[in-house]
Amino acid sequence: MPQQSNFWNKQATRYDAAISDHDAQYATRLNQLKQLIKPTDDVLDFGCASGEIALDLAPYVKSIEGIDPASAMIELAYDKAAKRDIRNASFLTADIFDPRLEPESFDAILAFNVMHLVKDHHEVIHRAKTLLKPGGMLFVETPCLVSSPGGNANSFWRPAHCASRPLSMCTSLANLKRAKST
Ligand SMILES: C[S@@+](CC[C@H](N)C(=O)[O-])C[C@H]1O[C@@H](n2cnc3c(N)ncnc32)[C@H](O)[C@@H]1O
Repeated sequence: MPQQSNFWNKQATRYDAAISDHDAQYATRLNQLKQLIKPTDDVLDFGCASGEIALDLAPYVKSIEGIDPASAMIELAYDKAAKRDIRNASFLTADIFDPRLEPESFDAILAFNVMHLVKDHHEVIHRAKTLLKPGGMLFVETPCLVSSPGGNANSFWRPAHCASRPLSMCTSLANLKRAKST
């Protein structure tokens, strides 16, 4: 984890500039989320980077907490929240196993472009399940891992029933299963 954090700390400014451009995929993801998430939801954005998605989603939810192990990303997220006067978003330098995260405290967890970076998918999914309220949802978008450092070259994770869509929704964590990359 420290090695990965060093990498992402160095990338923080560049990553933030790139994601702030809001390409078509970003807009699609955000629009889909707006339809699926409720104004009463408490949301966790796992691997939030510089908080762009969390901040764009904040007006549509009750609260959103972004976590990321790279402190430079979290500093950028706090700066942007202050500049945009967004008060229902908070950020923490942490990974998903951080004990400060309360069990059964989130209606939705976002895991965008991060599952290919974690050491053990099983543990992360199990942990996400403990953090979700009953009936809560995990949203996953994961790139193909073929050339990802630290990734498994032969497979990646995605919900079985919506494999070809850019944003994947699981009504139950049981829907998640391992699928061969194509
Ligand atoms: C490709 S960015 C994705 C950011 C954002 N979720 C998005 O979709 O734009 C990956 C982020 O995950 C974080 N990250 C890397 N390894 C991680 C890990 N093992 N657990 C949690 N976050 C991690 C990085 O610090 C980085 O900010």
